[in-house]
Amino acid sequence: EINFDWLNALPKVELHLHLEGSLEPELMFTLAKRNNVKIPFTSVEQIKEAYQFNNLQDFLDIYYQGADVLVVEQDFYDLTWAYLLKCQQQNVLHVEPFFDPQTHTARGIDFSTIIDGINRALVDGREKLGISSELILCFLRHLSEDDAFITLQQAIPHLDKIKAVGLDSSEKGHPPEKFSRVFAKARELGLLTVAHAGEEGPAEYIWTALNDLKVSRVDHGVSAIFDKALMEYLIAAQMPLTICPLSNTKLKVFADMSEHTILQMLELGVCVTVNSDDPAYFGGYMTENFVVLRDSLAMTKAQAKRLVSNSIKGSFTSLEYKNTMQ
Ligand code: HPA
Ligand code: ZN
Repeated sequence: EINFDWLNALPKVELHLHLEGSLEPELMFTLAKRNNVKIPFTSVEQIKEAYQFNNLQDFLDIYYQGADVLVVEQDFYDLTWAYLLKCQQQNVLHVEPFFDPQTHTARGIDFSTIIDGINRALVDGREKLGISSELILCFLRHLSEDDAFITLQQAIPHLDKIKAVGLDSSEKGHPPEKFSRVFAKARELGLLTVAHAGEEGPAEYIWTALNDLKVSRVDHGVSAIFDKALMEYLIAAQMPLTICPLSNTKLKVFADMSEHTILQMLELGVCVTVNSDDPAYFGGYMTENFVVLRDSLAMTKAQAKRLVSNSIKGSFTSLEYKNTMQ
């Protein structure tokens, strides 16, 4: 279809993607078999049926379970490589994916096994596919500050492979400021910071992500629309928000795509961007997320281009490289 073609051909940048959330059912079966890991599904159809969520926690429960099939370095390579091949098909030129080390270290997998597999694929992505990347380590906010500190310590020998730290998992009841000291230590180590805030949680969590964690971008941030002063700040600071349309409707942050506020925010001057979050679970990669904005919100070509331009502005690559992408 013509419009899919145009949106697919549009050179894009992805700033909010969980590698564990790009694990497609087919690869899940392959890895389960290869590693002798039991999964509670017998067919791809059964998996797709299970992917119906009423909220973030419903999704997280099944997402962490899916990650159990990732065991050896090659698994993390294969996961990352499959995502990069999708990026190539959809003209995604630059990516800044998240990974959740605690999901795996909690099962006895070494931090280095995880990051070495991911990094090897990202290096191949640059060399063989021409896709540039920056990696972001996410802390699981439902776990303790101590656990996050241990994870940051494990990352220290690998700082050359990590650009930033982030914060994901169950938002409500786990405000950003729970991790103020961990993020301060990460910044001391030279890392940038981002955080999921204002997905299911209140606008207040966006304020504390900005003020206490000193984030360079806000992941999701859709709750900002309920706080006038925050909206004014985000516009004045041109703080990037990494919005994930399909994720937001699958997790019922918005009841329907027609109610999504991304284009309203764009027209108000907020630096909003389009991203896929967990494409294997939410039914689409970058192109599909742009397509639903066109189909449900009548996004214009000019708006699509501004959304990509915001992603380039908000990315963590060098200014020099940003200029080549514009
Ligand atoms: N929100 C919080 N944690 C997550 C998400 C999300 O959308 N995806 C993967 N982990
Ligand atoms: Zn996310």
